[in-house]
Amino acid sequence: MIGRPDNVPARSPLAGRDCLTLYEFSPEEMRLLLDEAVRIKTLQKSRIPYRPLRGRTLAMVFQKPSNRTRVSFEVGMYQLGGHALHISPEEIQIGKRETPGDTGRVLARYIDAIMVRTFDHQELEELAAAADVPVVNGLSDTHHPCQALADLLTVREELGGVEEVSISYIGDGNNVAHSLAIACALTGAELTIAHPEGHAPDPEVVGLAAKLGAAPKLTQDPREAASGARVVYTDVWASMGQEAEAAERKKKFVPYQVNEELMDLAAEDAIFLHCLPAHRGEEVTAEVIDGPQSRVFDQAENRLHAQKALMYSLLG
Ligand code: CP
Ligand code: NVA
Repeated sequence: MIGRPDNVPARSPLAGRDCLTLYEFSPEEMRLLLDEAVRIKTLQKSRIPYRPLRGRTLAMVFQKPSNRTRVSFEVGMYQLGGHALHISPEEIQIGKRETPGDTGRVLARYIDAIMVRTFDHQELEELAAAADVPVVNGLSDTHHPCQALADLLTVREELGGVEEVSISYIGDGNNVAHSLAIACALTGAELTIAHPEGHAPDPEVVGLAAKLGAAPKLTQDPREAASGARVVYTDVWASMGQEAEAAERKKKFVPYQVNEELMDLAAEDAIFLHCLPAHRGEEVTAEVIDGPQSRVFDQAENRLHAQKALMYSLLG
């Protein structure tokens, strides 16, 4: 995003910005976003109509499947008085029919903001650099910032705050783990990531979290990570695009399954989170994800509230 029209007063310090990794935001801006999400959620729960985005349109470009991201963005824009346009993988085909930059430039002539779910994060950056409207990452191979916003909102609601809360992510050092690392560094939550050998988070992302003053603690021991944690978090062992590796990964990741034995090591009042979709019997047992400590459906609902706050702030 390059600028905003001169005649529209900015309501938010985030107006006109992109959200590709969360690293673009300061700790204060992250706190503002979470505050805004709480405010917007309260209005929604009180059934008070709130339509600040009347007449604004979001394009949602999907190169991968989705339930939560597609529905929560579309419903969220509608609830804010705006409109969202779903563009399926067969249509735009980022980087195939035209350059990502041309896609961004053209969409920006029709649309007020663009949400993209794609594979290659670099393509997303190219599209965002060319588009003169806010661009939001709806998941790339390396980042899932909207998920992390909802995750931290859930932790704040469930545990009364995020600062110094110990969060243990057990599993693949993937897009979800990366965004969680940045979000934790921005909010002061203390993240430990337990991963199998060869599946650590990208050192570049760990470096970004370190620059924010809080690199996640890395270990290959899931029991060590879970011990005393207030939040235990996991994700699928093979992400979208890694289907060919699924069988191989399954063998390697078995010791990283979140089951009752692992949850017993966590704090007594620990909660369990998962970005979903989940594979019961693989990264998490049914007893845990369907059990009393699980907050995964509150977490999924919070995608709606967190993204409404984000869209309101970027389009403010
Ligand atoms: N967690 C998440 O992004 O879910 P979807 O893939 O269904 O959008
Ligand atoms: N890591 C998963 C997250 C899905 C929401 C994936 O990229 O498939």
